[in-house]
Amino acid sequence: MTLLTWNHACTVGVRAMDEQHGILMDSMNELRLALVGGSGRDLVTGLLERLIEFTRMHFQSEEQLMEKTGFPGLPEHRSEHQRLLRLFRESALGAQLGEEARMRPLLCSLRDGYLAHIEGPDQQYGPWMNARGVD
Ligand SMILES: [Fe+2]
Ligand SMILES: [Fe+2]
Repeated sequence: MTLLTWNHACTVGVRAMDEQHGILMDSMNELRLALVGGSGRDLVTGLLERLIEFTRMHFQSEEQLMEKTGFPGLPEHRSEHQRLLRLFRESALGAQLGEEARMRPLLCSLRDGYLAHIEGPDQQYGPWMNARGVD
């Protein structure tokens, strides 16, 4: 699993959201380093829980901005956030219960799910918000 780095597609054009995406990627990298470095299960599951909590806060921030600017794609975007959070929680539970060898594929699925979200649905709200004074 490779380290996550910024690329153009990961910029959504709303500063506060770009900053939060950066923090989320840093947290995933931290988790990856903990796994590769052979850190104990407690540390790894603690980092995973922190990542999930921050993800929940981030999704809330995005939805609040969408509400504030009347973004028409809010209902679909919110369901996608809920789907991702369910996936994250299931992965965390799997990581807590499963063998250590199973945690890397779990982390890969988190990373892929999250990147696909930032590069997909998250790309749609920037221009709408920019046009309404949020940048
Ligand atoms: Fe996002
Ligand atoms: Fe989102």
